[in-house]
Amino acid sequence: MNDQKNVNEGKFITIEGQDGAGKTTNLDFICRQLASKGIDYVVTREPGGTPLGESIRDILLSRNELSINPTSELLLMFAARAQHLETVIEPALQAGKWIVCDRFTDASHAYQGGGHGVEHSTIEAISKIVQKNREPDLTILLDLDIETGESRVSTRNEEKDRYEQQKSDFKSRVRETYLRLAKENPHRIQLVDASKSIVEVSAQIEKVLNVFHSNVNNND
Ligand code: TYD
Repeated sequence: MNDQKNVNEGKFITIEGQDGAGKTTNLDFICRQLASKGIDYVVTREPGGTPLGESIRDILLSRNELSINPTSELLLMFAARAQHLETVIEPALQAGKWIVCDRFTDASHAYQGGGHGVEHSTIEAISKIVQKNREPDLTILLDLDIETGESRVSTRNEEKDRYEQQKSDFKSRVRETYLRLAKENPHRIQLVDASKSIVEVSAQIEKVLNVFHSNVNNND
């Protein structure tokens, strides 16, 4: 899929973080920043982004009592991801568009790996099959403490989804895994302190995007 690198390929940006970290607000900010730089982008999400992916999302995030074991959950995430990569992400990147994706494989490591205890080597193996060589070029990781995240989720006027209903120790493992991934991938993953005000978080993200964009231009 990605063996012969197309030099005009777009860039693949993902945004990650625990529930309540403020992904929705900041995703919007990222899109506005890209638009202001004249970048043609596609915004999408996981699980989801395709009709199949959105159907899988409905199953995964449903609040009903459907029992899904961690391996099944992982495979459903990657089933959605395979369809998403082939029909949305790769065609857009090949056409020179940038992708802004709300969560990707780091979330599988954080939630199915860290949260539910699926071996990271299993997740790695499946990701090699599904992604071939495709990895995000930049990941913005919104980090904040569990208590602040929980209080932000509970002030939303919606019922909590399956992941938001998890206990604090699950959430701590999710956070720790994200932080470990950031340490292991310091060039790709940029950590943003999401406990700050919206204005301060936006300023951190703007800085990250400016550096990334100027590196892209310098490498042209
Ligand atoms: P989320 O992105 O938080 O959407 P919203 O902000 O609209 O609630 O919801 C997606 C949930 O899916 C989130 O709790 C994390 C989970 N998830 C995984 O467990 N593994 C994955 O690989 C992905 C992509 C998401």
